[in-house]
Amino acid sequence: MDRFLIKGGKKLQGTVHISGSKNAALPILVATLLTDEKCVLHRVPNLRDVRTTLKILQYLGKQVTYQNNVVTVEANGQLKNDLPYELVKQMRASFWVAGPLLARFKQADIPLPGGCAIGVRPVDIHLKGFEKLGAQCEVKAGNVLIHADKLSPAKIVLRFPSVGATQNLLMCACLIGGETILENVAKEPEIDDVIAFLNKMGADIHTDDKGRLIIRGVKALHGAEHTVVADRIETGSYALAAAATRGDVTVAGCVPEHNAILWEDLQEAGFSLDIGTDFVHVHAYDGEIKPLGVRTAPYPGFATDLQAPWMTLMTLCNGTAEVDESVFENRFMHAPELVRMGARISTEKSVARITGVEKLSAAHVQSSDLRGGFALVMAGLCADGETEVERVYHIDRGYEKLEEKLTALGATIRRYNPDKDEF
Ligand code: EPZ
Repeated sequence: MDRFLIKGGKKLQGTVHISGSKNAALPILVATLLTDEKCVLHRVPNLRDVRTTLKILQYLGKQVTYQNNVVTVEANGQLKNDLPYELVKQMRASFWVAGPLLARFKQADIPLPGGCAIGVRPVDIHLKGFEKLGAQCEVKAGNVLIHADKLSPAKIVLRFPSVGATQNLLMCACLIGGETILENVAKEPEIDDVIAFLNKMGADIHTDDKGRLIIRGVKALHGAEHTVVADRIETGSYALAAAATRGDVTVAGCVPEHNAILWEDLQEAGFSLDIGTDFVHVHAYDGEIKPLGVRTAPYPGFATDLQAPWMTLMTLCNGTAEVDESVFENRFMHAPELVRMGARISTEKSVARITGVEKLSAAHVQSSDLRGGFALVMAGLCADGETEVERVYHIDRGYEKLEEKLTALGATIRRYNPDKDEF
């Protein structure tokens, strides 16, 4: 399996161009199941999770092309309404096909996604919502069979603003006649992008003055063309890598307001930023990194997906900071790996306590999940010596052309596979 070799100690310099958002592209690709007409999607990042989603669309019966970040999806006969475990186990978000398939065929037979490294990841909120819409959900042998004689509009209050459940229920309600109201929904920017695409397809969705999603179902949806929004987690990841290496980097082609709280926190930690309309310039800063604790929360709170990169930055702070991971129950796997690189971190339940050190030192480390993997790459960029990061396939899920983008910023990073590379 591929690994990264990173020679640390270089300040990142220059401009990095942000790709389309993984967490918007995935649900938008799934939303094409709601129509038989052709959809064209631009700025679709070339990531492992995107390729998995395209495989799912093909398995279900769609004809798909993918070239230069442009995806076309069109009908190719009758759609299936079941998914094999092989595909769902590779990517939990595969479960989001349930909503469109239930809406169109009144039945979906999908493997339960199961947990992953960062948590148990249940789907109870999804299933409860489908039941409110008139479906029966039967869990059997690891699959959930969702079927409905008739689907009816409903008012659904989510017990937690789950991103996936909001996406799933939103897509299902688009084709249910009448008015469905979703309350206590996720407000992540990726949801807005999915809504924009669905409304281009002829859906009728808006947010009312109480922040509830109002979906007036329509008979059918037509094809549409859409450009995926910039990836706010990639944006934050590169800004944090620039800061941690004391570099001078412009993060271009992003939507700065999607990371408002991160810019506040970076400035409070001592960094100076120029925030433009579609770029953020992180200025070189050699002063003390002030310790700043964060608590992750649903948007617009501090993004749980940036908790790990933030922790790496705090390993170099001048004091002690606490990170409280309130969204997922097991999202500190990067902490012991950072400790192997000389960081001082202790964790207890949802809180990690980081006491800054002068310097990190290179080590051989393993990533266990996507964002924790990026945090280890960041640490390797800062550490003296050559860091080896294993299980790069986690990182490939969410960072398009990572080594090219970092190399263009002056980093020394290369991918190699010990099983293949002899010399
Ligand atoms: C989405 O996952 C993202 N994935 C995650 O990004 C992101 O971390 C997460 O939202 C939170 O922002 C995609 O968009 C593809 P949730 P999702 O449902 O939808 C609990 C990355 O790194 N929960 O908002 O699975 C759940 O266990 C990935 O790009 C229930 O209890 O997140 C978790 O503790 C990682 N029951 C919390 O809610 C449910 O039915 C948030 O989960 C659903 C969720």
